[in-house]
Amino acid sequence: MKVIVLGRNGQLGQCLSEQLLAPQAPPGIEVQLFSRDECDLTNFQQVRRTFAQHKPDVVINAAAYTAVDKAESEPAIADMLNHQAVKNLAGVCGEFDSVLVHISTDYVFDGASDAPYVESAETGPQSVYGKTKMLGERAICKSGCKHLIIRSAWIFSEHGANFLKTMLRLGRERNHVSVVNDQLGTPTYAQDLANAIIKTLPRIARNECPWGIYHYAGGTVISWYEFAHEIFAAATTRDMQTPQEISALSTAEYPTAAPRPACSALSTTLFSQTFGVQASDWHKGIQTTLAKISDQQADQ
Ligand SMILES: NC(=O)c1ccc[n+]([C@@H]2O[C@H](COP(=O)([O-])OP(=O)(O)OC[C@H]3O[C@@H](n4cnc5c(N)ncnc54)[C@H](OP(=O)(O)O)[C@@H]3O)[C@@H](O)[C@H]2O)c1
Repeated sequence: MKVIVLGRNGQLGQCLSEQLLAPQAPPGIEVQLFSRDECDLTNFQQVRRTFAQHKPDVVINAAAYTAVDKAESEPAIADMLNHQAVKNLAGVCGEFDSVLVHISTDYVFDGASDAPYVESAETGPQSVYGKTKMLGERAICKSGCKHLIIRSAWIFSEHGANFLKTMLRLGRERNHVSVVNDQLGTPTYAQDLANAIIKTLPRIARNECPWGIYHYAGGTVISWYEFAHEIFAAATTRDMQTPQEISALSTAEYPTAAPRPACSALSTTLFSQTFGVQASDWHKGIQTTLAKISDQQADQ
């Protein structure tokens, strides 16, 4: 089975790359990975050429416009990548009979729920980013191509830019850190998400995959403030520098360009039942991420 990964240099893209190229990767998978330079999703001719050359059975799209606040002032750029380019990609997948595995976000929801969102819940994005991702999802569903849309949330890892790394930096720079305590979610270790995506491939290869929308995220719900506490507690055990004080803020006290959902926790139940993969263990993910960052620092 030929698998191509788009967005290889993002945090999820790097995790997919590591796991798909590892000796313990599922057998029978031939992988090609593409950076933005090698396959720019907004260059429709380049996308078509890539398909014509590689004739993929499966395309994993880990590329996206992910700058949530910046999207508010760059709506056309965000829409181009998260919606128009995804619509084109789905169309080309249909033409080449390739399966599209696409990653979406918890920010397609309005956040008014008091329980983790299930896949059938109504969407209601609050931000430009969330809206463009929702329109990308809709375009895939409408295209008729075989697809898995996997919504995830609060992704962190040793790669790229993410909340955990921001907290570590602030912990080095400041004695006092303030974090929002009234936004709830389900943090997801990107390596767990990559593993979950890879676990769908044998079902796809056997042509017995139930297509549609799934959620894959952390198994327990916390606030950003609680997440920061967990990160600093784990960092302390590794002798990493942490702030003396962490205080809780309300969303009103920490205005951002893009509004955030109050509770965007996702339920992974359907994914677990369908593919036999447990929700992300973000607690363990924090430990693993810190261990990898410590190793990287020791090597420098
Ligand atoms: N991060 C989160 O907390 C989060 C939460 C929920 C869902 N998600 C979704 O999860 C997926 C992966 O997110 P991530 O955190 O891994 O994102 P990321 O680290 O920002 O990576 C996005 C990747 O997309 C690439 N890209 C940008 N424009 C492109 C273009 N025109 N053509 C091809 N590639 C392009 C970027 O390339 P460069 O490296 O060249 O910039 C980058 O490698 C995305 O769909 C995102 O919406 C993320």
